[in-house]
Amino acid sequence: MSTTEAEDYKRAAAIAAAEEIEDGMRLGLGTGSTVAHLLPAIAARGFTRLRCVATSVATERQAADLGLTVEPFTSLTALDLAIDGADQIAPDGWIVKGGGGAHTREKIVAAAAQRFVVIADGTKVVDALAAPVPLELLAYGLPATLAALGDTAVREGAPPSPDGGVIADYAGDVSDPAALAARLSDTPGVIDHGLFPPSLTSEVIVAGPDGVTRRALA
Ligand code: A5P
Repeated sequence: MSTTEAEDYKRAAAIAAAEEIEDGMRLGLGTGSTVAHLLPAIAARGFTRLRCVATSVATERQAADLGLTVEPFTSLTALDLAIDGADQIAPDGWIVKGGGGAHTREKIVAAAAQRFVVIADGTKVVDALAAPVPLELLAYGLPATLAALGDTAVREGAPPSPDGGVIADYAGDVSDPAALAARLSDTPGVIDHGLFPPSLTSEVIVAGPDGVTRRALA
């Protein structure tokens, strides 16, 4: 798949997801190159009462530039819908996110939403999840946290998250995502990890050469 084709498929998935938005919704906006196609698709619908929260500074800026109303995620307790991209989507619905280091905020927003819709081009669909799994770690005690995790390195060149967390990647075994997610969550110093369980995702929208496919999960 060429870069241009991949961008076309990301846009197609994003446009399909934008059709699920209704005016007046409280909407969570993800982060990344697929979401970058979603924001103009939302703006083009001309809503006047949409209330958005953003999972990154980049998304917040792009959304505001497009005229979308973005609120800090302190004024809303729940969302009607959240839409976000993914790095890997497994057949059983487990998803890896955090290639852009925004997975902690993305998971908070997904969990607060009545429906969480994942959008992707077909290259994100995998037979089985593989490393790396992105992590956000507390800076305090970082060497001890890395030692406890094993197979984990701070991501080179990655800035701290907007919440001050250190972005790292776990490079070990990912064959049992449920067990790994539990272990990562149980490790002190791990703020959050990029494994999203099937129960968190309502629908996956994937676009490829055969068009747009929608798959309901939770
Ligand atoms: C951000 O940290 C990530 O979770 C992104 O949502 C994910 O990496 C997908 O990004 P792209 O849409 O750029 O592939």
